[in-house]
Amino acid sequence: MTLSIDRTAPLHDRVRHFIPAAEWPVFADDIDAILTLKRQRNAVILAHNYQTPEIYHCVADLVGDSLALARLAQTTEADIIVLAGVHFMAETAKLLNPEKTVLIPDQEAGCSLAESITAEDVRGLRALHPGAPVVTYVNTSAAVKAESDICCTSGNARKVVESLGVKRVIMIPDEFLARNIAAETDVEIITWKGRCEVHERFTAADVRDVREAHPGVIVLAHPECPPEVVKEADFSGSTAVMSDFISSRKPPRVALLTECSMSDNIAVGNPEVEFVRPCNLCPHMKRITLKNIRQALEHNRHEVTIDPAIAGKARRAVERMLAI
Ligand code: 13P
Ligand code: SF4
Repeated sequence: MTLSIDRTAPLHDRVRHFIPAAEWPVFADDIDAILTLKRQRNAVILAHNYQTPEIYHCVADLVGDSLALARLAQTTEADIIVLAGVHFMAETAKLLNPEKTVLIPDQEAGCSLAESITAEDVRGLRALHPGAPVVTYVNTSAAVKAESDICCTSGNARKVVESLGVKRVIMIPDEFLARNIAAETDVEIITWKGRCEVHERFTAADVRDVREAHPGVIVLAHPECPPEVVKEADFSGSTAVMSDFISSRKPPRVALLTECSMSDNIAVGNPEVEFVRPCNLCPHMKRITLKNIRQALEHNRHEVTIDPAIAGKARRAVERMLAI
């Protein structure tokens, strides 16, 4: 134990604002074991921006938004990919790496958006709106992607919609993302009734309250927030776009209307920025822990598999997005 505390001391330095020295022994043993297992097994850990700081800053090899994680999954040379994020992200990594072992540390790490729609629902929408291409948010199952023409993320949604060169698209399943994109483009957007359970809870009144309590604050909202929240905010973008905004512009005071770990993670690289934290936790992202990442590497679990009958079509929709 003392050895692992010594070996991981430089990592503790990165997260000392969140994890007091007295608590570090609880984390050090797992972190030390994960670093060794990664080397032994030629594994990489891809972590979403919503993972907790000890995962994001101490064991992840690559971090980013959903789009970056898909791109990084496409280029890694490792034999094993551990996806520290939710199930649809691991499925996307597997679609792009059918030969590799892709592990998700907790199979129950789902997503309210992915849960909101089935392949049959997509077929129903196509029948209702013949000829309109289906643009599907990556926050969906492989079966839903397989019914789609192309995927998108919050980082490229407008570009994807406009790349199709049509007047009308079906954009599923996030109603708010679709309405936020519709406000930025002339393309008519038909959507679905899915919601992110984390972002739907923010209100326009929250934005006004934050501004009143913290004068001068710059408010950034994720595009999964309701349109009236995005309208009240100063800027909206994917988690990576928000992170780039802060690193490049260094606003003195910001509020990120998104998942709670996001501010913690980017605060580490931006000590001069004051983060106001009116955040909501994603219970699915929080299912991933150092303990289950260690177990994933020790016992090869839980391996992501995709029905070959849908994998080919789902892969095409993701690859078409990545080609843009
Ligand atoms: P991005 O990281 O792509 O912005 O997505 C946010 C999200 O909610 C993923 O679950
Ligand atoms: Fe899904 Fe929202 Fe959680 Fe992201 S934050 S995984 S969109 S429920």
